[in-house]
Amino acid sequence: YGAAQVLVASNRGPVSYTVGEDGSLDAKRGGGGLVSGLSAIGSDADALWVCSALSDGDREAVRRGIGEDGVRMLDIPADVHADAYNGIANSVLWFVHHMLYQTPLEPVFDAEFRRQWASYEAYNRAFAEALAEEAAQGAAVVVQDYHLTLVPGMLRELRPDLRIGHFSHTPWAPPEYFRMLPDDVAGQVLRGMLGADRLGFLTERWAEAFTACAERFAGGLGGTRVGVHGLGADADFLRKRAHEADVEERMAALRQEIGEGRRTIVRVDRTELSKNIVRGLLAYRRLLEAHAEWRERVVHVAFAYPSRQDLAVYRDYTAEVQRLSEEINAEYGTPGWTPVVLNLKDDFARSLAAYRLADVALVNPIRDGMNLVAKEVPVVSDAGCALVLSREAGAHEELGEDAITVNPYDVTGTAAALHEALSMRPEERAERSKRLAAAATALPPAQWFVDQLDALRG
Ligand code: G6P
Repeated sequence: YGAAQVLVASNRGPVSYTVGEDGSLDAKRGGGGLVSGLSAIGSDADALWVCSALSDGDREAVRRGIGEDGVRMLDIPADVHADAYNGIANSVLWFVHHMLYQTPLEPVFDAEFRRQWASYEAYNRAFAEALAEEAAQGAAVVVQDYHLTLVPGMLRELRPDLRIGHFSHTPWAPPEYFRMLPDDVAGQVLRGMLGADRLGFLTERWAEAFTACAERFAGGLGGTRVGVHGLGADADFLRKRAHEADVEERMAALRQEIGEGRRTIVRVDRTELSKNIVRGLLAYRRLLEAHAEWRERVVHVAFAYPSRQDLAVYRDYTAEVQRLSEEINAEYGTPGWTPVVLNLKDDFARSLAAYRLADVALVNPIRDGMNLVAKEVPVVSDAGCALVLSREAGAHEELGEDAITVNPYDVTGTAAALHEALSMRPEERAERSKRLAAAATALPPAQWFVDQLDALRG
């Protein structure tokens, strides 16, 4: 047996490496809820994070035996990882849980899919074996997300002594949609998950969908418990980070780009099909069309960070976001006013600057496990913001009361919601924003993680 008492497993780890021109390796630490969650126990020498080597730099680091304490990167063969990550996790499981398929033509579960599925099994097995090797007798293991659905079952067979948890950061598909998967694959996914002692979800809705799938296709939950932990925004970190010098600098620059006396509608997403960026732009265009009074008086600052660009649909989607932004600017822009400021380059400090300047936050996903942006903007915005929020985001269960709710498919409805948000009286906006921030920070990442561990052990 190994020495680790608490183990986390996820595809993307807390650190990544790039190879410099001189061959040296440069480590960059990532952010996100899990990273700050684990930092709560991170000083604990008995904690270990098992993740994939994703970049060439990561693989090089593994080969040279370079690494951080408390992190073990798995050097899974690049082609196996690509099939598992791009082919199965991001093109099949992500699409099923977010209901993204254009069903007359997709999905097509053919021989290529079967080949990729075998890679997904091998990739999950590599994680299960590493965890089995590293875990101390009776240790707690928390497996993360749709990349690793088979791990709990595989690990249970290798190490029946462990406490095994799994946490889903995505929605779970309703049975009618989940059953699109070939029966044997659906069964493997469910049995893999049910190998865990406890499954965690971000909202009741996703937990119920999983339970319904388990009941219909796997004979029920068996001994597995299901719980809900609604990850909140990391207020302490965000408030501090948003007042550092690089953010202040970017605020000055952004203010200039926006122009004196104009309102700001902010969105920040990965360029992700489920985030519904295109309909967001269509709604903004509709706002300018239907409410001429906002022309010259509002700017839409949209961040669409590159994501999953190995997939053609994601590249096409990025191109469409870019094309539509340019079209709106050509249609309505004037020499002194650019209606859409689109940001495609990863710049966390600049997005925090936009958070602080936001009058309105637009969060309109088709479906989203939680959506932390909806929780972060009210916490960070200087004057308080109005939140236009999709009813299909997990965050809506907690924030719905003080947000302006939209059906993400309804573009004219979203335009009307933007108008309502822009027109809100400043005092009402500030009050609602305060309540949103309070609800958004109810379960900070550190507590979120500790709660999961307690529930797993309890
Ligand atoms: C979602 C998933 C995470 C994933 C993240 C970024 O939030 O739940 O597991 O890490 O997207 O996606 P990526 O494919 O870049 O890791």
